[in-house]
Amino acid sequence: MQVFVVADAPAAAEKAADMVENVVRARSRPRIGMATGSTMVGVYQSLVDRHKAGGLSFAGTSIYLLDEYAGLDPEHPQAFRNVIRKGLSDHVDLSEDAVFGPDGRAPDLEAEARCYDQLVTEARIDIQLLGIGSNGHIAFNEPGTPLDASSGVVALSEQTRRDNARFFSSIDEVPRQAITQGIGTILQARKILLVAFGDHKSRPVRDAVEGPVSVETPASAIQLHADVSVVLDAEAASLLSTARPGAVS
Ligand code: F6R
Repeated sequence: MQVFVVADAPAAAEKAADMVENVVRARSRPRIGMATGSTMVGVYQSLVDRHKAGGLSFAGTSIYLLDEYAGLDPEHPQAFRNVIRKGLSDHVDLSEDAVFGPDGRAPDLEAEARCYDQLVTEARIDIQLLGIGSNGHIAFNEPGTPLDASSGVVALSEQTRRDNARFFSSIDEVPRQAITQGIGTILQARKILLVAFGDHKSRPVRDAVEGPVSVETPASAIQLHADVSVVLDAEAASLLSTARPGAVS
């Protein structure tokens, strides 16, 4: 695992965007796994800027979402397809049909999750972006999730619903369930890139990077993958015990 510690959130976004750009430029048909959430806003904005200023092209690229709320109106601005559309695909040369995600309004959510799992597995993601929840979740795999799980329908923890209430008009509007890629599915990606910044992420980051691999911290499963980069700002890295190999200042 390579841990990169940079000064602040904008620097972390740039570093993460560098890594995505490298993959997009290196592959003829890049397949990028994308997370949503506040951590990714700056990463996607940087990719948009690179497209507009530097000619970074996403032609031939496919995007695979990590997860989707269950039951949310597909027109809702927080439906993750819309988040990616607004934050990235509307602004670059990425066609609408190159963005894949589970349908959170499918009549049979479990069947939808199985179908999406197969799609992601067959696609073989080149680089999977991950944020980390304040409770150590990745995607919507909450503490207690088996580390080899395939995609499924999950209940969101109260912590996650409280954390995400800031994106909705009230906590009552936050869905209680989601379809998520399972941890086993996520770990099939060729490369994992976890990004975190802010003091509130320091504990889950420490547990994920230095703690035991445990279902209590789903993000600790990244330790099981052979090609992982973690990009942190100084605050998110503040509880790590040592300067890490690969760290930059
Ligand atoms: C979203 C997702 C979540 C977020 C995590 C961090 O697609 O999979 O795991 O990455 O909750 O969210 P932020 O970045 O808002 O702190």
